[in-house]
Amino acid sequence: MKEALNAIRQQAEQLIHAAQDMKEVDALRVRFLGKKGELTAILKQMGKLSAEERPVIGQLANEIRTNIENAIAARNEELKAAQLTAQLESERLDVTMPGKRHPLGKKHPLTLVLDEIKEIFLGMGFDIAQGPEVELDYYNFEALNIPKNHPARDTQDTFYINDNVLLRTQTSPVQIRVMEKQRPPIRVIAPGRVYRSDAVDATHSPLFHQIEGLVVDKGVTMADLKGTLEIFVKRLYGEDTVVRFRPHHFPFTEPSAELDIQCFACHGEGCRLCKGEGWIELLGCGMVHPKVLEICNVDPEEYSGFAFGMGLERIVMRRFGIDDLRLFFENDLRFLDQF
Ligand code: DAH
Repeated sequence: MKEALNAIRQQAEQLIHAAQDMKEVDALRVRFLGKKGELTAILKQMGKLSAEERPVIGQLANEIRTNIENAIAARNEELKAAQLTAQLESERLDVTMPGKRHPLGKKHPLTLVLDEIKEIFLGMGFDIAQGPEVELDYYNFEALNIPKNHPARDTQDTFYINDNVLLRTQTSPVQIRVMEKQRPPIRVIAPGRVYRSDAVDATHSPLFHQIEGLVVDKGVTMADLKGTLEIFVKRLYGEDTVVRFRPHHFPFTEPSAELDIQCFACHGEGCRLCKGEGWIELLGCGMVHPKVLEICNVDPEEYSGFAFGMGLERIVMRRFGIDDLRLFFENDLRFLDQF
């Protein structure tokens, strides 16, 4: 019996030591120490022993039980520690490794400058208005005092969809749409895409952007127009910018003017940038024609207003020294990344 017990001890210790996980260790505990385990099975035969042998074997059996229990506890500790080490190893983080770069998008140069322009007008109490790019002839021309066969239609090579529907050639139709919906006081700018059937070159594109402005209220005068636009230009180009208003003609304003800024490269001397003019044309403007007010059911005896319109691309080209308009629409990252 002694031998059998010693054999159990030896085998148990060997197997426990070799166990690879705690489940295996527990299975061994059941196998050797459990109610139906090998050690218990031997102890059940103790009745057959003589009175002298019994305490000796009993003591040995207890000793072996303690031994096996200790071996189990020790192996469990070892396995736990190994598991922790493995876990820590797998979660190891090398903070000196280079990070993964996520390419950052940027605002398009047209958006950058448009945001600036919006900010200036929002600061003066203007709201932002919008209108459709697929527009009715009525809003794009008729209501703006440009009847069929009016020569002004020739200068704007229009994409017609049918006799009454077209791609807007200017943002001015938004003036009409705003006045139809909203009673004065009105103070809005309307930025957006416009379309003209132009061949593509360094200064022309069939799609470009305009920013329209409209102010209608009681007692609005040309002085308000000049003051507002002068503040706008100085905020955009700097306090020392020199502006001039030059008489012009638009069908939907009377009187009409164009606003020029003195060339910032040559200060009026005439150079390559201003094509020898000394001045750079920036926008068209004027007092809203009484006919246009009437068409929108705004009484010209009670209300007056001014309007203006400018092209975004030319402003942005001058700002960044861009000499080819096509760059705006080609989505070349080497260009877009520079802003
Ligand atoms: N719509 C004109 C154009 O495309 C620009 C313009 C001129 C707009 C005078 C206006 C204005 O509102 O008052 O050439």
